[in-house]
Parts: sequence; C-alpha cells; structure tokens
Amino acid sequence: MPAREELGNHQEIFYSKSAIPRPRIVRSEGMRFVADDGRTFIDTNAGAAVANIGPANERVLQAMVEQGRRMTFSYVRFSRHDPNVELTARIAELAGPGFERVHLANDGSEANEMAIKLLRTLAYQVGKPAKRKVISLYPSYHGGTLATMGWSGDSDYTAPYGDLMVPSTKVPAPLTYRRPAGTTVDEAALEAAGHLERAILELGPDNVLAFIMEPVGGTATGANVAPAAYLKAVREICTRHDVFLVFDEVMSATRTGTFLAAHHQPDALPDAAVIAKGLGAGYVPLAAVAVSEELVDRLRASGGFDLSHTYNANPIACAAGCAVLDEMTDRKLIENGAVMGEELMAGLRGLAERWEIIGDVRGRGLMLGLELVADRETKAAFSAEENVSAEFRRIAMDNGLLIGGRRLNGGAFGEYLMMTPALIITRTEVDEIIERLDTTFAKLTEQLHVLGHLSA
Ligand SMILES: Cc1ncc(COP(=O)(O)O)c(C=O)c1O
Repeated sequence: MPAREELGNHQEIFYSKSAIPRPRIVRSEGMRFVADDGRTFIDTNAGAAVANIGPANERVLQAMVEQGRRMTFSYVRFSRHDPNVELTARIAELAGPGFERVHLANDGSEANEMAIKLLRTLAYQVGKPAKRKVISLYPSYHGGTLATMGWSGDSDYTAPYGDLMVPSTKVPAPLTYRRPAGTTVDEAALEAAGHLERAILELGPDNVLAFIMEPVGGTATGANVAPAAYLKAVREICTRHDVFLVFDEVMSATRTGTFLAAHHQPDALPDAAVIAKGLGAGYVPLAAVAVSEELVDRLRASGGFDLSHTYNANPIACAAGCAVLDEMTDRKLIENGAVMGEELMAGLRGLAERWEIIGDVRGRGLMLGLELVADRETKAAFSAEENVSAEFRRIAMDNGLLIGGRRLNGGAFGEYLMMTPALIITRTEVDEIIERLDTTFAKLTEQLHVLGHLSA
C-alpha cells in the first residue's frame, strides 16, 4: 500500500500527459484563478462555460444552506417538494411558450439522454414503436455517456468504445467557415439541411425519432453558429416527417444574449431544449429538458415517463438553480453577455486584422471561436505536429490567460480557440483578454516563423 500522501491524487492522474500544464488552483476571484504558486489567470472559459455568475455568490450559497437546513433530500419518485416547482417555473418562464414543462437532470450528457428517452417513450406509447433512430451532426458533441458519445460527431473521444455505443446517423454540420467550395453561407446551409432530409427519407420517416443539434456549436465546432436559413429548413423538415427536433443547448443556453439560443429564431423552435452548464453555474450539478405542455399531456395520457436518476431535482440543487437564475435576471447578466459578446467579438476581429493565422472569427454572445489557419487564402490547417492550438494555450498561460481550443476530429475540420467567459465579464476584462491574446499571437507567430511553419 502506498503512503497516504500518495493515495488518490488529482483527477489529472487519469488524463493523458498534456503539453499544457494544469495549474493547481487554490482560489477564484471573479473571472480570475489564483494558483498555489501565486500566478493568476483570467479564465476565458468560465471553467467550461459554467461559472456564469462568478464564484462565492452569497445569494446562491445562502439559498443552498437554507434549503439544506430545511430539507436536504427527498427522492422525486417517492415525494414532491417546492424547490422543484420553484426552479421549473423559473426555467419555463425564461424559456417561454413551447417550453412549459421541465424535467430536471444532473448534467448535460444525462439531460440529452433524458430528452431522447422521453421523446422515445412518447413515440413508443402512442403507437410508433419503430421510431428509434437518432440523427445528429458531424462534427458535434453531445456528451460522454455511451449513448451521447454515439450521437456525437467527435472521433477524438469515441475511438475506444466501438459497438458499446449506438451510433446515430450523421449528417454534415452547417459549418459557416469550412463550407463546400464555391457556396455562400446560405447556400451551404440549405445544402446541409438537404442532407438531413435525405437521411430521414433513406432511414424511413417511420423509423426516425429525433434530430439533435447544437444551435451554436461547442467544443466540436468552436462556436459555429447554425445559420437562420438552416434552422428554418430543419424545423420544416422535422415537422414534415414527424421527427422531433432537439436543441442541445447544454452550453449555449444563457450565453448567446438570450436565455435560449433558440430564441434568436422564434419561427424555428425545437420540440425539446436541453440546458445544463450555466444553470448550476458551478455551484451544483444541474440540467434540464424543456418541452411543451401539450407534449407532456400526451406523454402522461399515454402512460407517463417513469425514468429518473437518484439526484434528479435534488432540493439543494434546485434552490441553488433558483438563486442562480434570480442573480442572472436581477443583474441582467444575459443582457450583459450580449453587450460584452459584441465587444469581445469586435476585439477578436481587430486581432484578425493583425494576425494572419486567424482564419475565422465566429460565434454569438459569449460563445466565441477563432479558427487558426496556416494559409488564409486556402484555409489550409496547421499539421498535427505544429499543434498550434495547444501551443497557443501554453503561451497564453505565460500571459495569464486560460483559454480552450483544440484540433477538430483529428484536424479534419481545422483547429480553433474558444472563449466562453462568465456572464459577469466587464469591459476592462474584455480589453485585458484582447491584450493578452494579442501578446500571445505575437509570440506564437514569431515562433512559427522561426520554425519555418509560416512564410515571411
Ligand atoms: C453541447 C454540449 N452537449 C453536451 C455536453 C455534455 O455535458 P456534460 O459534460 O455536462 O455531461 C457538453 C459538454 O461540454 C456540451 O458542450
């Protein structure tokens, strides 16, 4: 048996060796982390698009303590409690018409699965037993459970699992930058929507349960925004063929300037919206599936949906979720996200004018991506050996910046940096981020020139 100090260890012990060291964080202050060696970092990702309202929020902490003192746990399958109603009412109010009923879950993967299982149960119970097939996008990311990995179009994660996963049918994502040559964004969007319709027809509409997609992409596309023409087309296609449309808003909910990214296009609302990350804002694991009252009426009339995980609608998590949403509403943090998102986007566009290796600036609100390219004209990506997103992230840390980014599907879709900062971000912090990114681009570009990876 090893000595006690050698037991356990950080979660990091399970991960592959990384070129980017993981600092040991001892404290968080606003958008900043303080490491054990005294270094501070601006966290441009709110953890992982999670810590929306910042750390140590008294209102949230108090709500959790008070709820815990009153009643810590009751199992939703055996009893009912008010924090559940309080939270689902707040979510339904923010989500608006078409999302009057809310099923709670613990994280994004689980909630995506719950959404599909809930819809499948309805189809099964109303006499459509063949409806089992799920269609999703390539690339995309929907989670780390075996089912959600099967729906994800993200080969970097899924390779070891083979037929443990049940793969969905994949259709091309409506990528706005890496779109088919010679097409406009709208033409490419309609072409991508055509792939969905063909897939439904090939599988047979009677066999297709749902199409799941991210309206603004997360880690698999680096904030690709599905064009309006695409959303409108896929809504019509799904309705025409009796296929449920599911928006995976695990990351996008609350951070694109509206509560749901779906709200940017009211004529293309999904049948189910899945919300996670920012809902618990880092205080508690919390996620939700929002659907219409009418759908749940049909579900109940046909036999209900008897599935839950032990911690679903946990009272302390619900109380925290209510306080998080109250903070967001009272402090107008979603609106702040819209304004600061514009500022950050403008700053990133400015950087693109200075630095050749930025091929694309994209995103919406506080979900923003920068695509890195070896050649702007041809959109040629860097090679795996150059691994520029990792190198950028490493240099950024020297400049006090934590930033996400990766190569997509082994480089098949290029390579990007992504920012999903907390909704509490200020103008000063936006400026600081841009300044530190600029310094990082200067250093990286110099390095690439020295190594001969960029022409003069
Ligand atoms: C779009 C999207 N869907 C699903 C998930 C999975 O959520 P979780 O990690 O909370 O299970 C993520 C996580 O990054 C995500 O970004």
